[in-house]
Amino acid sequence: MSDLVTEYNGRLEKVTTMFTAEQIQARIKALGEEISRDYQGKEVVAVAVLKGSVPFFADLIRAMELPGLSCDFLGLSSYGSRTETSGVVRLTSDLSRPVVDKHVLVIEDIVDTGLTMQYLLENLATRKPASVRICTLLHKPANERVSVPLDYIGFTIENEFVVGYGLDYDERYRQLPFIGVMRFEDL
Ligand code: PRP
Repeated sequence: MSDLVTEYNGRLEKVTTMFTAEQIQARIKALGEEISRDYQGKEVVAVAVLKGSVPFFADLIRAMELPGLSCDFLGLSSYGSRTETSGVVRLTSDLSRPVVDKHVLVIEDIVDTGLTMQYLLENLATRKPASVRICTLLHKPANERVSVPLDYIGFTIENEFVVGYGLDYDERYRQLPFIGVMRFEDL
């Protein structure tokens, strides 16, 4: 049973719901409350890692009650096949302002091998922030190649290829309000 079936490039792409929009929003509400408590009275820069984190970022910042919050964006991309990373990470766009002495909260859609986040943590450390914490919506520990400290995790998932709510397959499916497991079938 699939929730979405698309014919594309001679194959059927089947997406089966893993987390509904309601489940995602409920988890974000709880994460927002936890983060707001932890950062009370502090100046926080929420950093969205483009492009996958955009929906999560937009919902999470609205679930936080932090008057001192500012937002910035940073683009990272890993070369690789459509479903697997090569481990080579590159910066595709940089933050708009320095984060020296600021509390940086990195917001990601998924930590999979951990290589993207390792690269980002090393890069951010050179900018001398007051602190850096990571909030990821999804964590897939089965694929971990390097261990990175994850401060806030939405959901821990099995080793499945997931799309939706920011996560793509070949740049598609990011707009889905839910997260689903992607499977393929030849026509
Ligand atoms: C995805 C995701 C993370 C990274 C996680 O980004 O948004 O940034 O992969 O994978 P890792 O833990 O194995 O490094 P991607 O490079 O696909 O770019 P996108 O966000 O633009 O989709």
